[in-house]
Amino acid sequence: MSYKVKDISLAAEGELLIDWASDHMPVLGLISKRFREEKPLEGIRLGACLHATKETAVLVRTLEVGGAEVILCGSNPLSTHDNVVAALAATGTKVYAWREQTMEEYYWCVNKVIDHTPAITMDDGADLVSTLHSKRTENLKTVKGGSEETTTGVIRLRSMHRNGALKYPIVAVNDTPTKRMFDNRYGTGQSTIDGILRASSVMLAGKVFVVVGYGWCARGVAQRARGMGSHVIVTEVDPAKALEAIMDGFQVMTLIEAAPKGDIFVTVTGDTKVIDEQHLRVMKDGAMLANSGHFNVEINIPALEMLSKGKRRIRPDLDEYKLKNGHKLYLLGEGRLVNLAAAEGHPSEVMDMSFADQALVAEWVWKSKDLKIDVHDVPKEIDDLVASIKLNSMGVKIDKLTDEQKKYLTSWREGTV
Ligand SMILES: NC(=O)c1ccc[n+]([C@@H]2O[C@H](COP(=O)([O-])OP(=O)(O)OC[C@H]3O[C@@H](n4cnc5c(N)ncnc54)[C@H](O)[C@@H]3O)[C@@H](O)[C@H]2O)c1
Repeated sequence: MSYKVKDISLAAEGELLIDWASDHMPVLGLISKRFREEKPLEGIRLGACLHATKETAVLVRTLEVGGAEVILCGSNPLSTHDNVVAALAATGTKVYAWREQTMEEYYWCVNKVIDHTPAITMDDGADLVSTLHSKRTENLKTVKGGSEETTTGVIRLRSMHRNGALKYPIVAVNDTPTKRMFDNRYGTGQSTIDGILRASSVMLAGKVFVVVGYGWCARGVAQRARGMGSHVIVTEVDPAKALEAIMDGFQVMTLIEAAPKGDIFVTVTGDTKVIDEQHLRVMKDGAMLANSGHFNVEINIPALEMLSKGKRRIRPDLDEYKLKNGHKLYLLGEGRLVNLAAAEGHPSEVMDMSFADQALVAEWVWKSKDLKIDVHDVPKEIDDLVASIKLNSMGVKIDKLTDEQKKYLTSWREGTV
């Protein structure tokens, strides 16, 4: 069988969601129209390891109308939408994904994508690329290039390249302005709050909300939490980012100082064990813990288990841990990215830009000759095009540089007058 999903009878429900997302993704819509006419991806097998959401389905279909054969698996054991993948499977996409996978099942799906010998990879977190480079090296020879969607994936890929392990060129879609400035900040900002609310339904106004990290994603989360009336504390390890948080009006302190104060904690660092045993020990009774970074290692869950004498599931995506010290702590979405585990991921409008970048980068990689093995930036023309189409879709016009201004901005001759 060319797919494995939880329940194919959910296809009609999924189809409605894909339609809804598609109506909110005008940039991808325009690319899809051109791809349908030009078929720039004709004959390519494209292996994608992405959060299998309604927006991803719109991307998959854009690539398919462009001529690609897409093979999809999820990029997280808890982020797949079963109705969406059922809709994709029912219309012929090779898809291996369902929600709530064991690690074994998760990597079985990743390996199914590799079995189809993709020529291009599209990854979110670099699990597909790292599996190819470690356990399936015989399949590397058919791969021409790839792209990476998220910060953690780009960090892993750059590390592979530094160690001489990377065997084909990859484009860091995450790092391009039309992705990172919007998806990471506004997408993660809104959808993290959405995930916390869907999992817990608590009131945010008046709560002490601790955001761990102040990078692109965390900034969005801190701003949105403040907008909901929370008292936001930021913790950081980077002095400049900490200063930025202060000047943006947040309280900044160490996490060990913030730990007994916080009602809600959200980690968004891409780092490991940022909330560790010593923090868990001093947290308030009833504090809630969520993560919106890529992997479920930011909160030290084994330490939480070790400090607890019991655990029960209160409702989907909300687990209560009874600590030996008498306190209860609540873990949201099993410590996996809360916006995807407990909600629907980023809004379609923002994924419109990220996935427009992905579609155009796939075309660019496929057409490129002699792209060297490296982690490449998205070409500026692609980024500018995506931003321009998005502005256009909003009915917004902007000014253009005059020839005199272009000359002035590239010259050193003119100074004080
Ligand atoms: N939830 C989502 O949908 C989503 C979307 C995009 C990215 N991400 C993921 O979110 C994570 C963050 O991405 P980003 O683009 O914001 O990265 P970033 O590099 O812009 O920011 C990360 C920040 O975390 C800080 N940090 C690292 N270790 C820390 C620690 N121990 N304590 C406090 N701060 C610490 C760094 O100094 C940095 O400022 C990554 O794992 C990324 O893949 C998630």
